[in-house]
Amino acid sequence: MIDKSLIDEISKKADIVTVVGSYLNLVKKGRIYLALCPFHDDSNPSLQVNPERNTFHCWVDGHSGNAFSFVMQYEHVTFVEAVKKVAEIIGFDDPRLHEKSYVKRVDDNLVPLIKCIDDLNSFYEYSLTSEEGKDASEYLAKRNINPDIIKRFHIGYSLKDGTKTIKFLQSKGHSLKVMEDIGITTNIGDRTHDNNQGRITFALVDNAGQVVGFSARHLTDDDGPKYVNSPETKLFTKGKVLYNFYQARDIAKNEQAVYLLEGFMDVIALNKINVNNCIALMGTALSKDHIQTLKKLNVEVRLCLDGDLPGQEASMRILPMLLNNNIPVRIVNNLNDTRDPDEILNEQGADALKKYLNNLLTPFDFVINFYKNSKPLDTVEDRKALIARFIPLLLATTSQLELDDYLYKLADVTHFSINAIKNALATARSHKKVDIVEEEDNTNKRFTFKPIKEKLRHLEKNEREILYHMLTHEDAIKFYEKNIEYFYTELYRDIANYLMEYLVQHSGLNIGDLFTEIEIKNAPNKETVKSEITKLLDEKGMHLKYSEKLLEGCKREIDKEKKKIHKQEKISRATEGKSEEEKARIIADTLRADDD
Ligand code: UTP
Ligand code: MN
Repeated sequence: MIDKSLIDEISKKADIVTVVGSYLNLVKKGRIYLALCPFHDDSNPSLQVNPERNTFHCWVDGHSGNAFSFVMQYEHVTFVEAVKKVAEIIGFDDPRLHEKSYVKRVDDNLVPLIKCIDDLNSFYEYSLTSEEGKDASEYLAKRNINPDIIKRFHIGYSLKDGTKTIKFLQSKGHSLKVMEDIGITTNIGDRTHDNNQGRITFALVDNAGQVVGFSARHLTDDDGPKYVNSPETKLFTKGKVLYNFYQARDIAKNEQAVYLLEGFMDVIALNKINVNNCIALMGTALSKDHIQTLKKLNVEVRLCLDGDLPGQEASMRILPMLLNNNIPVRIVNNLNDTRDPDEILNEQGADALKKYLNNLLTPFDFVINFYKNSKPLDTVEDRKALIARFIPLLLATTSQLELDDYLYKLADVTHFSINAIKNALATARSHKKVDIVEEEDNTNKRFTFKPIKEKLRHLEKNEREILYHMLTHEDAIKFYEKNIEYFYTELYRDIANYLMEYLVQHSGLNIGDLFTEIEIKNAPNKETVKSEITKLLDEKGMHLKYSEKLLEGCKREIDKEKKKIHKQEKISRATEGKSEEEKARIIADTLRADDD
């Protein structure tokens, strides 16, 4: 354990804004900061960071705590690891943090596997330099893979006679059982071979930097599979590994972007031209774990899959998955170019590849191009369906100029008038919250939208009561700041934020001045905000007389309603994808637990 006194010292210096801000984009609103909550599917910033209390809190899913608990929950690490991580973030160092006992401990059962795979990796690397590895190193040289890249990517060679590799590992004290457990053995007759034998090996590394498996390539492009991949083992889960993520992470953070490529030869190609913020899927689909990894990386993803139909269809599948998770994304414009980055580099050189990588499309333009190219819009239904598919993207667009551009292009492609599309958009928007859902048909996954039912009447009424008084009593604003902090109703929250910001800069509330400030800020929703404020002030006779007691009463009702919503969200998360029977059981259990 770490000394209590050391923990206290770090805790005192651990500014919550610095720590949370190193993971999430924080936006200052009055005295607090807001961000999209990483612990649930958030589309409206609901995680708030309070620098005065040095705490964070998400009122939608209930996650809360200090800098240490944030890191623990975010990184899924133990308390001790979180303390070390926080120290690193705030630039605090102490020799006691580096003592042996603080080093991350792995599952004891995995230790023999890790020792074995590390030895195997060294042996492959060594074999490549040996006399027997000559063909392999010539092959790599032919592909312009230099010693620096070979080292950086742990590229090696597995001897033609795979029994030799097994013997080597035995001589290092590893049992056949452990070799089986890391997934490299194959039995031919009564002898055990290395199943990568005769191939060039590429180490697969997990997010912590540990070698967990291999992908091994033929030296020739003749029959048999080009690559042999390690099977899933206790160390290696396919859906968890993104090739090169461990090395690309910090560079991607600096560059604020990461290229997501199809294969690891493409990653290597980009490294050759010093574009090091790149990772690859290695021929699998994007998994939930991959998405979480990318979400946490918190940078723009630049999709660069093949330009042929399967590659573009894969991009169409992946795109909504990223957007649904609020991961910013652009797509390399390579429609119908059947070459991969490695081939472009070989045929046209570094500058051509750089240019190719910088030719990026917004999701909007990519989807338009895709449809124009592959799915002729023959019927009215096709054209309507295309509009429907675009609605979530249009709703998510905050820049008016960008939106106008999209509407113009969409009208051009579908031959609907801009006004007709605007109407469709307004209808979708009046449902307030729009959910993008994945809908599977035979050929493709596509995204559609469904409105979420409004069940917030009572909550809204109480929030409105408080908001009314905030417009007429400064004390009500202070009450809000201290006791509520966050309205569930989006528009009210925006108005409350304007009021708090206003009070920081002015003494005394003047609605005229407030309108000027709102005008100056020029937020996209400023008209709605102003008209709502006017409406509220006109409601004079409809509200109760101001008193702190009144506000406290409203707050109690709000808290009750928030709790209900929280519970519903919890249930809907827990029942996702479950059978009807199981759903009923989960709901009953949750309700019972809350009765206690
Ligand atoms: P590609 O066929 O595009 O390979 O497969 P590549 O990266 O261009 O490789 P080279 O240039 O021919 O050497 C893309 C990815 O699909 C997986 C690999 O992870 C590869 O990087 N794959 C491909 C396999 O797992 N097995 C195979 O037989 C082929
Ligand atoms: Mn290739």
